Amino acid sequence: MPRKAAKKQAKKPYRIAVIGGDGTGPEVVAEGLKVLAAAAKACGFKYETREFDFSGKRYLACGGDPTKPSIPVITDEEIRTLQAFDVIYLGAVGDPNVAPGILEKGLLLRLRFELDQYINLRPVKLYPGVPCPLVGKKPEDVDFTIVRENTEGLYTGMGGIQYKGTPHEVATQVMCNTRRGVERCVRYAFELCRKRNDQKMLTLVHKTNVLEYAGDLWHRTFLEVGEEYPDIKKDYNHVDACCMWMVKNPEYYDTIVTGNMFGDIITDLGAMIQGGMGIAAGGNINPEGLSMFEPIGGSAPKYTGKNVINPIAAIAAVGMLLRETGNHRGDKKLVDAGNRVEEAIIATTPKMKSQAAGLLGYSTTKVGDLVAEAVRKG
Ligand code: IPM
Ligand code: MN
Repeated sequence: MPRKAAKKQAKKPYRIAVIGGDGTGPEVVAEGLKVLAAAAKACGFKYETREFDFSGKRYLACGGDPTKPSIPVITDEEIRTLQAFDVIYLGAVGDPNVAPGILEKGLLLRLRFELDQYINLRPVKLYPGVPCPLVGKKPEDVDFTIVRENTEGLYTGMGGIQYKGTPHEVATQVMCNTRRGVERCVRYAFELCRKRNDQKMLTLVHKTNVLEYAGDLWHRTFLEVGEEYPDIKKDYNHVDACCMWMVKNPEYYDTIVTGNMFGDIITDLGAMIQGGMGIAAGGNINPEGLSMFEPIGGSAPKYTGKNVINPIAAIAAVGMLLRETGNHRGDKKLVDAGNRVEEAIIATTPKMKSQAAGLLGYSTTKVGDLVAEAVRKG
């Protein structure tokens, strides 16, 4: 980019599209935005936010059928509007009054697919002072990153039902793997592993002993792309064994790369060993385009509106958002701000009684205040 253009861009405020979403989403997002404001002030960058009401409530208010998809949860035009933003910050998707799948597919999966956010980046990091359910494991033992493929695998919706409702009924759900899709994901993971500069080991997680076609494509691609990364050790685990190792020896891992469904499952396990759903954040990343950051814990309907849900994951998502956007745009201020948010979380978690909803020892808003205060202090 010519220097003049770079300067001009650096001055332009970052535009953040905010989707609070369902359940506790808006509550935790409010705390994330509080911390963002503190970080912007401390690190000297400008940003603008615009809130979008894409939610189960809106779907129902617009006359959407709660039992089956009947109207778009988000329209084509709204997707085009989002595309004018630099980044998306999402709270949660899922409403007990809307049948499972309608909002997930109509909003979350649709955005992931249409914005080609082909990486789902989920760090598994135990912060100091956070109780780990694994006996004797310390923050230095639980610190690895999972790269989940985010646009293919079992999530494409390919397949169908034949002879429905008869004794001959057949249901297929196709695991779709393209060479291009696998390759770009694997390459991203190798690059990330190199940047992490930890053990320099990338573990491919799959099930090659049973999924002979999909597993073969993943494994071959992994080894072929791996030739470009002689400094990175290539490692492989079956997904079932990976679940065992994550619990028994989490310190074994540095970076993991895996397909969409396996990644979905092992990142929930990862969230638990880092202290729970209240802590885990993730990024849906299009390395060349528009990314979306979110806490991965869901909408927690039973805690909605009670000011007891843990906002740490949503705040950690802001940290990721700043770091990733900063790296993407070459803006050091944003990267610094992201690091500052993470440091502030590390300063706050030891003060909390627990990371579980309702047991934090503080309200949701108070935890947000504490992290924002820690950001200001630096
Ligand atoms: C996640 C969630 C989603 C997924 C659901 C809500 C569709 O579980 O982000 O991990 O399966 O990807
Ligand atoms: Mn999940």
